[in-house]
Amino acid sequence: MKHSVFAAASAVAIMASGMAMAEPQAEVLHWWTSGGEAKSVAVLQNEFAENGGTWTDMPVAGGGGDAAMTALRARVLSGNAPTAVQLKGPAIQEWYEEGVLADISAVANAEGWADVLPASIAGHMMCEGVWCAAPVNVHRIDWIWGNADVLAANGIEMPTTWDEFNAAADKLMAAGIIPLAHGGQAWQDATVFEAVALGILGPQNFKKAFVDLDMDVLKSDGMVAVFDQMRKMRGYVDANFSGRDWNLATAMVMNGEAAFQIMGDWAKGEFLAAGKVPGKDFLCLSTPGDGFLYNVDSFAMFEVDGDDKQAGQALLSKLIVGKNFQKVFNLNKGSIPARVDVALDEFDSCAHTSSADMNASSEGGSLLPSYAHGMALRGAQSGAITDVVTAHFNSDMSSQDAVNQLADAVANSM
Ligand code: GAL
Repeated sequence: MKHSVFAAASAVAIMASGMAMAEPQAEVLHWWTSGGEAKSVAVLQNEFAENGGTWTDMPVAGGGGDAAMTALRARVLSGNAPTAVQLKGPAIQEWYEEGVLADISAVANAEGWADVLPASIAGHMMCEGVWCAAPVNVHRIDWIWGNADVLAANGIEMPTTWDEFNAAADKLMAAGIIPLAHGGQAWQDATVFEAVALGILGPQNFKKAFVDLDMDVLKSDGMVAVFDQMRKMRGYVDANFSGRDWNLATAMVMNGEAAFQIMGDWAKGEFLAAGKVPGKDFLCLSTPGDGFLYNVDSFAMFEVDGDDKQAGQALLSKLIVGKNFQKVFNLNKGSIPARVDVALDEFDSCAHTSSADMNASSEGGSLLPSYAHGMALRGAQSGAITDVVTAHFNSDMSSQDAVNQLADAVANSM
C-alpha cells in the first residue's frame, strides 16, 4: 500500500510557491448532470479555472452514482484512475484499503479542516488516521416535496404522519392527480424506503436495522409495517414510473402532473434551477417521523503521477472546503454547507429547516447516515438490502416475504 503523503505535501509546497512549476490539472469524475447539479458543479469548475487550474470533465450520468462507480472501477482496474472522484461514505475507506487513494492531510491541516467541520462529517473523510476525502455539503434525504397550487386546490396540507400522507394520496388519486412522482430505479426505491423506514421504525430502530444490521429489528413487525407502507406507495405512483430519472419526477411535481416527491434536497436544486420559489411554488417538509438522514457528498483524490495532477488535487481539495465555494455551491445544489462557519443568510427556508433539524437531531442522537446513498454500509450490504426493496416494489411480494428475504440477504452479505 502506498500513500502519497509526500506527494500531497509537495503539491502544497508548489502551491505555496505560487505554483511556479506545476500548472494544476484535474480530471474529475462525477455524476452531476441534471440542471441543478450541473449548475452546482460549474461553481467548482469556475473556481478551479480562476485559480489557474485546467479541468477535464468526466461526467457519468445516472442519479445516485451507480453508473459513475462502475466507470470508476473500470478506470482504476485499467491503471488509469481519474485525478479526483465524487465518492462518499464507506466507499471512501474501501478504496483507501485498496491502496489507491491519496492522503490529502497536508491540505487539510494547512486549511484547518478539523476546526471547521463537525466531527461526524470529518469522520467520514478519514482513513486510517489521515484525511482521504474533502466534503462539499450535507444533503438531507428524508424530505417530501409538494406542488403548492395542486395541494391548495385540493384542500391538502403537507402530511405530518403516514396516515395523513395516505389520506392525501387517496384524495389526489380520486381527483385524477398522480400522488407520488417516482422513478423506478433501484436507488430511488431505496430512497423512498429509507424515509418510510425512518418514520415507521423511529430513529433508534432505523439505526439498529440499517447501520448495525441488527437481525431482531430487520425481522420485526415494524419492518413488516414498513413494507406495508411501501406497498401503498407503489399504488400511488403512475404507470410509467419504471426507469424514470429522478429529475423528471421532480419536473412532474413542478408542472402539477404529480403532487409529491420523496427525494433528497438535490430536488430543491432542480426546483431552484427552474426558477421555482420555496414556500410559493413548492413546499418542503421532512417526511413523517423523527430523525434526519444525512448524505455528505465528497471528493477523493486518486494516486496519480505528475506534479501538475498532484497540484490539481491539492488545489481542488483546498477549494472544495473553502468558505465561498461551500456557500455558492450549496445555494445551487439544495444542500447545506459542511463547514460550520458559513452564514446561512442567503439560504432559503428549507435550508434553514435542514440546518436546525440537523443540529437538534445531532444532540438528540437521531442524526443518521443514509443507507440508500451509501453513507451507512459497505456496498455489498446496502446492495443486498436495495435488491429486496426493489424486488418487493416491482412485484406482489407480501410484506412478510420481503422481511424474510431482507434478513436472509443481509445475513448472506456479511
Ligand atoms: C446523490 C448525491 C447527490 C445527488 C443525487 C442524485 O447520491 O449525493 O449529490 O447528485 O445522488 O444524483
